[in-house]
Amino acid sequence: MSSTSNILSSPLLPPGPHSSFFGLPLLRQMRRDYLGLARQMHQSYGDAVYARIGPERTYEFFHPELVREVLLDPSRSFIRWERGTQVFAEMHGQSVLVTEGDTWQRQRRMLQPGFGTKRMAGYAQHMVAAAAQALDALPPAPAQTLNFEHLVTQLTMDVVLRTLFSQQITASQRGEALAAERAVQVISRMGMEEFFWPASLPYWMPHKRTARRAKRTLDALVWRHIRQRRQDPAPDSTDLLGMLIAVRDETGDGGALNDNEIRDQCMTIFLAGHETTAAALTWWGHTMATHPDCAQRAQDEVDHVLGKRPPQYADLPALPYLAQTLKETMRLYPPAPSLISRRATRAVQIGPWQLPAGALVRVTPWVLQHDARWFPEPERFDPERFSDAGQAAQVRGSYLPFGAGPRVCIGNLFASTEMALVAAMVLQRFRLAPVPGAAPTPVLNVTLRPAQGLQLQLLRR
Ligand code: HEM
Repeated sequence: MSSTSNILSSPLLPPGPHSSFFGLPLLRQMRRDYLGLARQMHQSYGDAVYARIGPERTYEFFHPELVREVLLDPSRSFIRWERGTQVFAEMHGQSVLVTEGDTWQRQRRMLQPGFGTKRMAGYAQHMVAAAAQALDALPPAPAQTLNFEHLVTQLTMDVVLRTLFSQQITASQRGEALAAERAVQVISRMGMEEFFWPASLPYWMPHKRTARRAKRTLDALVWRHIRQRRQDPAPDSTDLLGMLIAVRDETGDGGALNDNEIRDQCMTIFLAGHETTAAALTWWGHTMATHPDCAQRAQDEVDHVLGKRPPQYADLPALPYLAQTLKETMRLYPPAPSLISRRATRAVQIGPWQLPAGALVRVTPWVLQHDARWFPEPERFDPERFSDAGQAAQVRGSYLPFGAGPRVCIGNLFASTEMALVAAMVLQRFRLAPVPGAAPTPVLNVTLRPAQGLQLQLLRR
C-alpha cells in the first residue's frame, strides 16, 4: 500500500465492511478485540474505513495526515465522543477530561500552569522520594521475582498522592492504597464494558455492587483530602490541590473553582495521572528485560550522569538515551492505544471525504504506531527511532501516545518526567530479566496492560 493510495482517490464514502444486522457483529468483535479489529480493518480497507453500526456512521482514519486533520481541526468541528465522556463522567464528574466548549476552555486554562515546566522541579522531588521509598523497601536478596506491574502501579499512585495532596503511602496507609488500586481496576474494567453499550446502567443496580463500592472508595479518598485542606488550609502548600484551590480564572471571570469542581479535577488527575504512567513503566520494564543491550546502554548513561546519587529534574536532558527507550516503549505499547474518538458537530471535510454532521471518528494510535510505512520493522524495539535524527525523520501524526491538538494530554510533561526519574532509579539499583515462560499479552482495559500482570526478575547490581 503506498502512503497516499487512499488519499488520492475520492469516492463518496471510504471503503468498509458490509454492515449486516445493523453492524451488531462488528460491535461484538469490537468488544472482544478492539485493537485486533482495528488492525484488520486497516489491512482490509486501507487508510480510511467507513462502517455503519446501528444508527452511527463511523469513520476510522489510519493515515497520519488524516488523523492530524481531525485532531487539529481549525474549524473546531469536533467534540469528544459523548458516550466515552458519559462513561468517564461517572467517575470523573465534570472535569477537564469530560467537558466541552467554554467550560472546558476555562478549566484547561486554569489547570495548565499546574502542569508547566516551572512546577516540574518541585514535583520531581516527590517523584524521586516515592521511587526511593518503593525501591529501597524491596527485599535485599541479590535476585527476586516480582510483579513489576503492581510495583509501578503502587509507585505511580504514591507519586500522584504526594503531588496532588502531599500525602505519602506510609505503612499504615498501605491498605487504603491497595483498596484504591483494586478500585481503579474495577472502574477501568467496567468502563471498558460500558463503552459499547448505548447507556450506562445506574449504580444502584445489583450487579454494579462492586463498581459502586469501588466508586465509594475513590470518592472517599478524594473528599477526605479536600475537607482536610479546607479545615487546615496549609498556605505554603505547593501541591496540585493547593493550586486548584488558589487558582483564579484571570483571563475569564476571575472566579475560583468550587469544591465539586475541585473534586472532579482531583479525580481526573488521580486516575489519569497514575494509570497511564503505570502502564508505560510496566511495558518499559518488559522491553528492558527483553533487550539487554539497550538496557545496558541506558544503564551506562545513568551511571555516567548520576553515579549513585538520586536524579533531579535538571538531570533529565543529560539522559537522552533513557528517554528514547521510554518513547520507543510507548510506540510499541501505547498506554492509551485507542478510544481517541470524536463526534463531528457539523459537516466537515477530512482528506477527500465529506463527513456529515454527527459522524463518529475513531483514531487508534496502536495501528498507526505499528505501521511499517512510518516505522519500518514495526515490531522491532529500536530506541534509535527517537534519536534526534530519527525523530526529525518521523512523519508527523504517526506517533500519538499523548494525542494531539487542543485536547492533547495535559500531563504529558508530568508523565515524561516521572517515567524518566523512576526508570533511572530502577537502573541504578537493578538489572531486569524476563521470567522464562511469562511473556505478557497486551489487553485493552482503557489503558494497555499485560493480561496477567508482569512478572520480572530484579537482579541487584
Ligand atoms: C504515559 C502517561 C500518559 C499517557 C500515555 C496519556 C495519554 C493521554 C491521551 C492520549 C490523551 C488525549 C485523549 C484524547 O485526545 O481524546 C490524554 C488526555 C488527558 N490526560 Fe493524559 N496521559 C498520560 C499521563 C497523564 C498524567 C500524568 C495526567 C495528569 C496528572 C494526565 C491527565 C490528562 C488529562 C486531564 C487529559 C484531558 C485533557 C483535555 O481533554 O483537555 N495524563 N492523555
